[in-house]
Order: sequence, then structure tokens, then C-alpha cells
Amino acid sequence: MKISVIGAGNVGATCAEYCAHHELAEQVVLLDIKDGFAEGKALDLWQTAPINNYDSRLIGSTNDYAATKNSDVVVITSGLPRKPGMSRDDLIATNAGIVKSVTENAIKHSPNAIFIIVSNPLDVMTYCAFLTAKVDSRKVFGMAGILDTARYKAFLATELDCSPKDIQAVLMGGHGDTMVPLPRYTTVSGIPVTELIDADKLDAIIERTKVGGGEIVKLLGTSAWYAPGAAAAQMVEAIVRNQRRIFPVCTWLQGEYGIKDLYLGVPVKLGKNGIEEIIELDLNEAEKQLLRDSEKAVREVKDVLDNMNLF
Ligand code: NAI
Ligand code: 2OP
Repeated sequence: MKISVIGAGNVGATCAEYCAHHELAEQVVLLDIKDGFAEGKALDLWQTAPINNYDSRLIGSTNDYAATKNSDVVVITSGLPRKPGMSRDDLIATNAGIVKSVTENAIKHSPNAIFIIVSNPLDVMTYCAFLTAKVDSRKVFGMAGILDTARYKAFLATELDCSPKDIQAVLMGGHGDTMVPLPRYTTVSGIPVTELIDADKLDAIIERTKVGGGEIVKLLGTSAWYAPGAAAAQMVEAIVRNQRRIFPVCTWLQGEYGIKDLYLGVPVKLGKNGIEEIIELDLNEAEKQLLRDSEKAVREVKDVLDNMNLF
């Protein structure tokens, strides 16, 4: 197995570290446009191998895609992160150009790879990679739902003073303030969360989750990377180990949930072929409305990309 991570910045390096540490592939390649940066990160990470006891080789490359040749999975994290005051959508013009060129280069060298997109604005950058790669949509998808769900679970675990391991939840929609946490599908070791927490507190957690990315941007001056990097790597793991795990993933919808021609977060089964199955939940009317609101917000950003005439 070979995994390439494009963009050796905060999220990319964190993802590569998880992939190597968990021995998800023989080779983990980090590629970045900044001279020597990916080589430096790869060398530093490789020097953790004797400490952390793993065999996966880390290889760094300054923009030479030959190093990524025949990758099984390509993770795209290249692009600008959010700075305070910026929305994810502000990033679109710059990051669309980056995601397009990176995808073109990566697919030339790895035509059979599965692509996981992380760059923001996530739902539309995933669409941008799909238009560029021109492969089956089951092989191009985006990471956001695992991160957003993790934030929701972490806040719940703090509030309930319980292990985050015991919280099951699903969150749908776009990666933005219109994401759709679903309390009806949230349990703590099988117990409906609504039996354990007051409605007001649960609402406050849901609202905090929706702006969870922005909370970290305000604290750090840039966007989060530990949880995003780990979340992307967890998707890589499900693919390379054919785990068939069920995660919320930014997926090309063709009529599922009544939504067509849009990338949006929905629960899917992930395995060796990428998206093995899209799971359709029986949403109630209020949940459907929240999903429609999220669809509308993502379509507005998609229109911006479509009007850039890049394709
Ligand atoms: P970063 O600035 O630390 O790293 C980005 C890296 O991309 C830089 O090292 C830069 O040199 C590289 N890069 C830029 N253009 C490139 C190109 N054409 N080819 C190769 N490399 C190139 O940023 P960070 O924090 O790692 O975030 C990366 C992206 O991921 C951002 O767009 C950010 O908004 C997004 N993000 C998405 C999340 C999600 O849930 N989907 C969560 C966190 C971040
Ligand atoms: C996050 O949610 C900014 O998308 C990034 O942390």
C-alpha cells in the first residue's frame, strides 16, 4: 500500500503521522510546494519510527509527483487555512486553483487512487477535485463529518463526564455553520442522549459544534489540525484495511435524500472501493428542513465555483 498526502502543513503532516504510526501503508509520501518543507517534515516524522515502533517509510517531496506514483490513496490538504474573521467560503478562489492543479498532477501518476479531500471550503473543493479527476464519484470524497461529529461527541463527553468512546452520533450536511447534528441518532452506550441531558444543554452543544472550527481559529489564529488530521487518517484506514466503517462523508449525491448533483455530508460505508454504500436515514420533517437549508448554503458556494469557469 502507498498513501500520498498533498500539503505537508498542519493537517497534512498530522494525517501522515497517524498513517505511518498505525502502519497503514509501506510508504507514506508527503508532498508540498514549499521548497524542502515536505522533506523536512518527512525526515522528522521518520525519526519517530524507532521511538514509536513502526515500519512505514516516510518520503518527502517538493512538488515532484513522480514520488506519489501508484498511490492507493491520495489525501489533499493543500490550500490556505482559515485566519480569524475569514469564513471557509472566503478561501474558495485560491483553494480551487490549488485543488485543481494538485488533483490533475496526482491523478496522472495514480490513476487508480482513491481521493480524500480536506481543503476548504470542503464540500465545494471535493466537487472541484471530482470535476478534475473525472473518475467514479465513489473514489472522490471529502472529510468533514468525522471531524464535526468528533467535536459534538467531545462536547457531550465533557458535559456528561463520560468516555467519548461510548458516544455514538451522526451529523449530516455541509461543513459549515448549517451542518446538521442529529440528536435523534445520538446515543450513549445505547441510551438516547435526550434521556441524559436537558434540551437546553443539548441545544447549546449543537450550536457550539456548528461553530467548532471557528472557536479554534479564534484561539489559535489558524484552523485546527490534530482532529482534522486524525479524521482524514481514519478514513484512509477504513479504505486500506477494508473496514467497511460507517462514517459521515462528503459524498456526491444523485437523488439520495432528494438531493442531486451536489457533494454533501451523509452517512456512508467506507471500504476498499471507497464509498461502498450511501446510507439513507428516515429523517423527520424538521431534520429534512435542516438538510435542505444546508444544501442551499452549499449550492451557493458551488455556484461561485461554477461561475469561475475553471472547467
Ligand atoms: P497549512 O497552511 O498548515 O498547510 C497547507 C499546506 O499546503 C502548506 O504547507 C502549503 O505550502 C501547501 N500548499 C499550498 N499550495 C500547494 C500546492 N499547489 N501544492 C502542494 N502544496 C501546496 O494549512 P492546514 O492547517 O494544514 O489546512 C489545510 C487545508 O485544510 C485548509 O484549506 C484548511 O482550511 C483545511 N481544513 C479542512 C478541514 C476539514 O474539516 N475539511 C479541517 C481543517 C482544515
Ligand atoms: C475546521 O472545521 C476550519 O474546517 C476547519 O476546523
